[in-house]
Amino acid sequence: MKQVQDYIRTIVDFPHEGIMFRDVTTLFADPRGFRMAIDQMLHPYAGIAIDKVVGLEARGFILGGAIAHQLSVGFVPIRKKGKLPGTVISQDYQLEYGEAIVELHDDAIKPGEKVLVVDDLLATGGTAEAGIKLIERLGGEIVSCTFIIDLPELGGRKRLEALGKEVHALCAFDGL
Ligand code: PRP
Ligand code: MG
Repeated sequence: MKQVQDYIRTIVDFPHEGIMFRDVTTLFADPRGFRMAIDQMLHPYAGIAIDKVVGLEARGFILGGAIAHQLSVGFVPIRKKGKLPGTVISQDYQLEYGEAIVELHDDAIKPGEKVLVVDDLLATGGTAEAGIKLIERLGGEIVSCTFIIDLPELGGRKRLEALGKEVHALCAFDGL
């Protein structure tokens, strides 16, 4: 039977030479693939208390929306700088070249709320760590972080686990 990773397309040399881009749009576009991914992402959280799902821009919105719907909890986006209309808190993080900023509405998470963090891919863990910092600054408690893809060579899982966070991923790919 086809597994989640079999629905993921690899595009060589995107966005630049030497990068193997793991394209989840082919997974999202397939009715069996998308349902399988959401079901498998939900599996570890049966019986676990979760108050909010936080999705990281951009593909974390697609996954996080479906997961929040299934858990019957609210969905909260963490967005790139300048996209959220209300009062925000901001967090910078390192990219391969330079740095970026992500933002969260300052009233989106209440102190003590139990939060599940969702994104498509874990590479260096910089994006997820920035998201975790934002959630924790509002007093949210991170229950777990879940991804479709882990790139273990980039160290994101170790980085998040060193912060004491639980990490789940449906599959892993070697290399960048
Ligand atoms: C990709 C991916 C993750 C992040 C992982 O997003 O979707 O969000 O990189 O990398 P990291 O673990 O090294 O931080 P990207 O920043 O390309 O933006 P997008 O999701 O808005 O396309
Ligand atoms: Mg992203």
